[in-house]
Amino acid sequence: MGRPKITVVGAGNVGGTAAQRLAEKDIYDVVLVDIVEGVPQGKALDISQAGPVCGYSTQVVGTNGYDETAGSAVAVITSGIPRKPGMSRDDLLATNAKVVKSVVTELVARSPQIILILVTNPLDAMVHVARKVSGLPKSKVIGMAGVLDSARMRTFIARELDVPGSDVEAMVLGGHGDTMVPLPRYTTVKGKPASELLSQERMEAIVKRTQKGGAEIVGLLKTGSAFYAPSASVVSMVEVILKDQKRVLPCAVLCDGEYGLKDVVVGVPVILGLGGVERVVEYELTDAERAALEKSANAVRELCAAVDRLMK
Ligand code: LAC
Repeated sequence: MGRPKITVVGAGNVGGTAAQRLAEKDIYDVVLVDIVEGVPQGKALDISQAGPVCGYSTQVVGTNGYDETAGSAVAVITSGIPRKPGMSRDDLLATNAKVVKSVVTELVARSPQIILILVTNPLDAMVHVARKVSGLPKSKVIGMAGVLDSARMRTFIARELDVPGSDVEAMVLGGHGDTMVPLPRYTTVKGKPASELLSQERMEAIVKRTQKGGAEIVGLLKTGSAFYAPSASVVSMVEVILKDQKRVLPCAVLCDGEYGLKDVVVGVPVILGLGGVERVVEYELTDAERAALEKSANAVRELCAAVDRLMK
């Protein structure tokens, strides 16, 4: 057995950086796909040429087609257009649904056992599209959002308390949009509840900033959206899956009754392992938290209904 193959679709900032981070692990073969001629080939060559300096020998292949992706264990799908300042993630729906549909069809035709991790926005609706198009079980179609949103919340708390971000645990559930549900009650610093370390007022400000964390970066960059933290987040999911670590991470998955949510893709804590999503973990929620999650799920439902109409 050679190294597990990971395909990254979309050689933009998120895809290129994800390919780089994966190459640096030195345990995977990496294929980078994009429709733009030369870009995936150029970035793949560039990443490979960093190998002798950084000490990895990963083969990174850049391509405009999908034949090189055959036999992939995991694909990270980042393709589509990003937000411009003032746009919501939902404004990307029609364009990106078409892109995701064609990408997923190409991937699954060559790698029927593949696990798909979606990064393209609007995230939850794109997981819904990928599920329908691929025919894969819900355990194998996963959206990256909660790890990123939680990382933002962890960063804000860490800065406020002057502690390392890795010592902060946080959990953000719900859709990847303004209705996302950060859970201060499940936020701890080395096991100590954050509520004992931060005033309620400061925590509320951090919750709001987390909910708008993506837009804050879009506003600063002016062209394109965040990519360092998104690529780090998706690579952490790939690692947890392929190393069968069974860690609990918040991911966008199709719920089937968990949290009282039926037939909707939304961010919930799941155990990830070699099979993809091994199960959804149910945290106890207060009535207010449950209501916020329900509201977020309803926002996703509306978007999925819209995308279904578009794709008829
Ligand atoms: C963000 C984009 C990746 O939250 O959705 O930055």
